[in-house]
Amino acid sequence: MLSSTCTAAVRGLSTTAQLSKINNVTVIGAGLMGSGIAQVSANAKLNVTVVDSNQSALDKAQKGITSSLQRVAKKKHADDAAAQTALVSSVLDRIKMSTNVSDSVKDADLVIEAIVENIDIKRKLFAEVEAAAKPTTLITTNTSSLRLADIGLNLKDKTRFGGLHFFNPVPMMKLLEVVRHNDTSDATFEQLIEYGKTVGKTTVACKDTPGFIVNRLLVPYMFEALRLYERGDASMPDIDVAMKLGAGYPMGPFELSDYVGLDTCKFIMDGWHKQYPDEVAFKPSPLLDSLVDAGKTGRKSGEGFYKYK
Ligand code: CAA
Ligand code: NAD
Repeated sequence: MLSSTCTAAVRGLSTTAQLSKINNVTVIGAGLMGSGIAQVSANAKLNVTVVDSNQSALDKAQKGITSSLQRVAKKKHADDAAAQTALVSSVLDRIKMSTNVSDSVKDADLVIEAIVENIDIKRKLFAEVEAAAKPTTLITTNTSSLRLADIGLNLKDKTRFGGLHFFNPVPMMKLLEVVRHNDTSDATFEQLIEYGKTVGKTTVACKDTPGFIVNRLLVPYMFEALRLYERGDASMPDIDVAMKLGAGYPMGPFELSDYVGLDTCKFIMDGWHKQYPDEVAFKPSPLLDSLVDAGKTGRKSGEGFYKYK
């Protein structure tokens, strides 16, 4: 085993020898998470490119980032409209939008994938990213639930691959889970922690286990609330009120599920259930399945457990 001084020296060496400073960040997926990750990265003065296969998702992201920045700017410069406008435009100026993955990752120092929670689609994307990116680019996923070892299975260089798990809404949530799998190098892991600090997040180190820390606890809790409701033990609004006022959570479990996206909740649970069929905490919910089948995916579609304007 290496002594701590010796380990630090080895780490220091590999960091400077292999990886460049992070200036250019490419975020792939312009949905709820990708737009927030782009915003906090640009706010930290990094150059950001956001990529999505769907132009309308990019248009929606542009609007979402603008209105989120306006909220931040209003708080920061309450009585100064000019300063608010300057803040919003200085951040927006650092964000480019594109539908072309290969072109957008060519100059990236860091790629953050935030597309749909589907292993085959993610693997296909990572093959394209690795083929087009520089040999020093850090390649990461914002997956909520999938194993990094599975997502990155076909990467040629797995040492530069890790997890950056942000929380929704990204501009407000202070945590970033930094995930390493067996092949993530120390240098990569340290640079991902450094990036987290740059974008103003508190980081925690996670291993490549289902749900890392937060979702391993939070998602089974959300599904337990569904089971409580499905058994007829309490109404949805009462469960939400109970957890807010009795447990101090900012949102009840149904409000939170709608906020996260019911499709994302379903993808997470279906994946775990397939992998661990005997684990009762990972049992899917018929009610959630029927809502997703009907296109009711929560706030983002206008309806989930509740209806939204
Ligand atoms: N951008 C910028 N500012 C925002 C914002 C956004 N997207 N959303 C909220 N805010 C700001 C508002 O401007 C407001 O600021 P002030 O109080 O200074 O005026 C503040 O946040 C509170 O907002 P609201 O009054 O609109 O509403 P709220 O008090 O209910 O707070 C919330 C909103 C921050 C989302 C809060 O309800 C909350 O923390 N909810 C829980 C969120 C959570 O648990 N997220 C984790 C989900 S799990 C996950 O992400 C992992 C996964 O893999 C699935
Ligand atoms: P979302 O549905 O809001 O957005 C996904 C975006 O990815 C869509 O705009 C879609 O057009 C795009 N996309 C799909 N396939 C693509 C491809 N091959 N190339 C380019 N773009 C593609 O999803 P989201 O909620 O932002 O979740 C994204 C990822 O982040 C998922 O892995 C999810 O598990 C994870 N995550 C979600 C939350 C949450 O609360 N929603 C929190 C943390 C992590």
